[in-house]
Amino acid sequence: MEIFRTLGFILLLDIVFINDSKALKDVSVIVPQAVVVGDSVSLHCRFNLEGEPLYTVKWYKGQSEFYRYLPKELPNTQVFPLSGIAVDLSNSSPNQVVLRDVQTISTGRYRCEVSTDAPNFFTNIETGYMYVIKMPSGTPQIKIEKDSYEVGYTLSGNCSSPPAYPHFNLTWFINDKMVNATSVMYLPDPNASESQRMPKITVARFELEIDANTFYEGKVRLQCLASLFNIYQSQTEVILEEERPKPRPSSVLGTRSNVAGLVTNSRRACLMSIVLLGLILR
Ligand SMILES: *[C@@H]1O[C@H](CO)[C@@H](O)[C@H](O)[C@H]1NC(C)=O
Ligand SMILES: *[C@@H]1O[C@H](CO)[C@@H](O)[C@H](O)[C@H]1NC(C)=O
Ligand SMILES: *[C@@H]1O[C@H](CO)[C@@H](O)[C@H](O)[C@H]1NC(C)=O
Ligand SMILES: *[C@@H]1O[C@H](CO)[C@@H](O)[C@H](O)[C@H]1NC(C)=O
Repeated sequence: MEIFRTLGFILLLDIVFINDSKALKDVSVIVPQAVVVGDSVSLHCRFNLEGEPLYTVKWYKGQSEFYRYLPKELPNTQVFPLSGIAVDLSNSSPNQVVLRDVQTISTGRYRCEVSTDAPNFFTNIETGYMYVIKMPSGTPQIKIEKDSYEVGYTLSGNCSSPPAYPHFNLTWFINDKMVNATSVMYLPDPNASESQRMPKITVARFELEIDANTFYEGKVRLQCLASLFNIYQSQTEVILEEERPKPRPSSVLGTRSNVAGLVTNSRRACLMSIVLLGLILR
């Protein structure tokens, strides 16, 4: 009993394996990763029939079929209405379907299904995802927090992208060298109207311990690059100038006003001045 079950399982595996490997090879779908609203887009479906007769090529978006090619029927193409999909029949062929004037609702998973005719009826399916993007505008915004510019202190900041769907990728560069963000958040766009695909604002934070090389000739250059696939890039730059340490008082036993002046210099100076104050007050 157990043996038969196992045999049956092996036979089934065999059939699946044979069906899979005999013919109709190398089905591949080439769908652009991202395009802009209004574009005309070619979706490619390549396959190798290995001598089998072609029965159909069908294109789906999600679960809905929108285009069918049937070489043995007339007309040999059929188009099914689907919102956001306008097939350009004159430019479509067994290996490509052209969509005119794509919209954000055209975003989604596209599937090509190729079937061969009798006697084997092989079928193979491949998919690809395409984003249709409303061209964003705006530049990333940089906010810097600084405790102090002294070695050992931390320089940190946030970069916020303009809102977009899908969200922007942000990259920080410090002195033209890429640095990894210490945290990345995706916040809802407060101005977005209710929609299925909510645009998000990306906020990337960096933190950098200041060392002897952070400031070059008294300056540090911070850049934040926002990119949306190969469609849109925008960069913002901030150059910070090192605050030169004020000349130290010549004597530790300065007057009170000297000590007060130190307090504004930096946190370390502040700590020092507290110690100094303690000394003076005693
Ligand atoms: C940066 O983001 C962090 C984490 O949300 C937040 O606490 C901080 O206030 C932000 N800083 C700026 C300058 O926006
Ligand atoms: C940045 O992050 C990547 C991927 O997580 C990692 O491979 C790389 O080492 C990191 N670079 C630095 C400078 O930390
Ligand atoms: C939201 O709209 C206001 C007014 O138009 C604008 O000033 C603000 O920058 C917008 N915020 C975002 C995150 O786009
Ligand atoms: C963001 O970066 C990742 C990793 O490089 C990439 O796969 C993805 O397509 C990018 N997304 C956008 C919107 O540019």
